[in-house]
Amino acid sequence: MNILIHRAPGFNRLVLTALLISGATLFGDDRAKDLPKFDGNFQKYWSDACARCHGANGNGRDNNGKPLPDAGFDFTDSRKANKKKDSDWVKVTMEGKDKMPAFKDKMTQADAQKMTTDIVRKFAAKN
Ligand code: HEC
Repeated sequence: MNILIHRAPGFNRLVLTALLISGATLFGDDRAKDLPKFDGNFQKYWSDACARCHGANGNGRDNNGKPLPDAGFDFTDSRKANKKKDSDWVKVTMEGKDKMPAFKDKMTQADAQKMTTDIVRKFAAKN
């Protein structure tokens, strides 16, 4: 009985930690899962493949204005966006970075370049 009483809290913590870790992993995978291949339509591809993390408007928020957990960057913040080079954004899009998935299997370098100038850049220009 003594053993049970002493062990139970530690065991619970262990289970809780395991649940938290697997939960976080599942969530991360979920958002990068089923990323479609680029189909030639840049605006549509933003909605299909990027908006789940970056938001439809590139501001890292969902349609209710709630911050998305894996946004990483607010593309509408022109002060910050202006410090970034197109070539850096193309590189991150192709190769990924931390939670940002690599898209080199989904689109060509030229597609990523056009995605950057025609879609990602324009989020800041609009504001
Ligand atoms: C699974 C979530 C996820 C998806 C899907 C996603 N991104 Fe990202 N993206 C991130 C995160 C997180 C970062 C921040 C990475 C870091 O700096 O650690 C990021 C960073 C970026 C950056 C660099 C911003 C900077 O810091 O200067 C660009 C550009 C970008 N993403 C474009 C895209 C494009 C284009 C798509 C769709 C083709 C896309 N992302 C899809 C999560 C995602």
